[in-house]
Amino acid sequence: MRENPRPQRTSLRRARTITASVVLASLALSACAGDQSALDPAGPFAQAPHDLIIPVAIIAAVVFVLVQGLIIFSVVKFRTRRDDDGSLPVQTHGNTRLEIVWTVVPAVILAVIAVPTVQGIFEQMGEPDGDVLTVEVIGHRWWFEYYYPDYDIYTANEMAIPTDTPVRLEMTAADLARSPDQGVIHSFWVPRLAGKQDVVPGQTTYLNIEASEPDRYLGMCAEYCGLSHANMRIRIEAMEPADFDAWVEGQTTPADVPDDGTLAADGRALYHDLDGRQACATCHQVWEGEADRAPQQGPDLTHLMSREEFAGAIHELDEETLRAWLEDPNSLKPMQYEVNGIGMPDLDLTDEELDALVAYLLTLDPDA
Ligand code: CUA
Repeated sequence: MRENPRPQRTSLRRARTITASVVLASLALSACAGDQSALDPAGPFAQAPHDLIIPVAIIAAVVFVLVQGLIIFSVVKFRTRRDDDGSLPVQTHGNTRLEIVWTVVPAVILAVIAVPTVQGIFEQMGEPDGDVLTVEVIGHRWWFEYYYPDYDIYTANEMAIPTDTPVRLEMTAADLARSPDQGVIHSFWVPRLAGKQDVVPGQTTYLNIEASEPDRYLGMCAEYCGLSHANMRIRIEAMEPADFDAWVEGQTTPADVPDDGTLAADGRALYHDLDGRQACATCHQVWEGEADRAPQQGPDLTHLMSREEFAGAIHELDEETLRAWLEDPNSLKPMQYEVNGIGMPDLDLTDEELDALVAYLLTLDPDA
């Protein structure tokens, strides 16, 4: 007896297709929500592109349905039928009116969309109105450095900003003179606060951000920049202006020098002199008030413990992780110090040295 296996197989295949579609659709839609969604704008510079995305998406959806509808209609209407004699349907070549219509209509749509698009681009990059806070952003492999020229503050990974204040980012990638092998392009993107802007060595690019509510806004480097590109995150801490003033006051206070004879004092000595190995102070800065602060190759550590995360904002900043980092940085974040001097070197520290350095770093807290 012969059975026809086809109906069963077809329904199985259909069930699989439906399951796969649901999984794919939910994965795709899950990208539309959450901490890093451009569809959940939290300030005017994110609202503008959002208000452009929605109508453009609607127009695109209408065009999509129209074009796909016509294709499906043609496929169904002109399909081969059982009683066909094998001859082709009537072939049409050239229709001037139709061709003019389908050229002019998209051109008009694009021209209409172009006006708010170009306007929006200039709003994202141009000098904003009102009291503006300037923050210089320097993209390094693989972390973001922030400098506040009004206050002479250097920090890394986490940027503090006051709410309801336009913040103008003046961005560049690590200067070629400062670190010759770090000239790669990064991209600064915090979707809830603004559009995306490239961060280019030897050039200054601009991006305006503003947060309407105090919150933590997350972002990441959005341009492939090498090994730890995926470990190059951005955290923006938006706070009430009074809290921001307090933050500025803490950050502009010089770091405390630990008392002589303490473990932290030993750590401070090692920070400056690691007995022939490359000392921390070669690349990092702990500003003790003696001179102006200056840009460094590595993150400024003056008020390290005022930050919640480190290493490109991928690790929580606590004693245990800090110790693990000093012991073997590459195991916490892949870098290439041994290959081309990028990132944090393995300093071959003894247990005693680790204890002392960690004790010292933990004192670097403006609130302590
Ligand atoms: Cu920096 Cu990707």
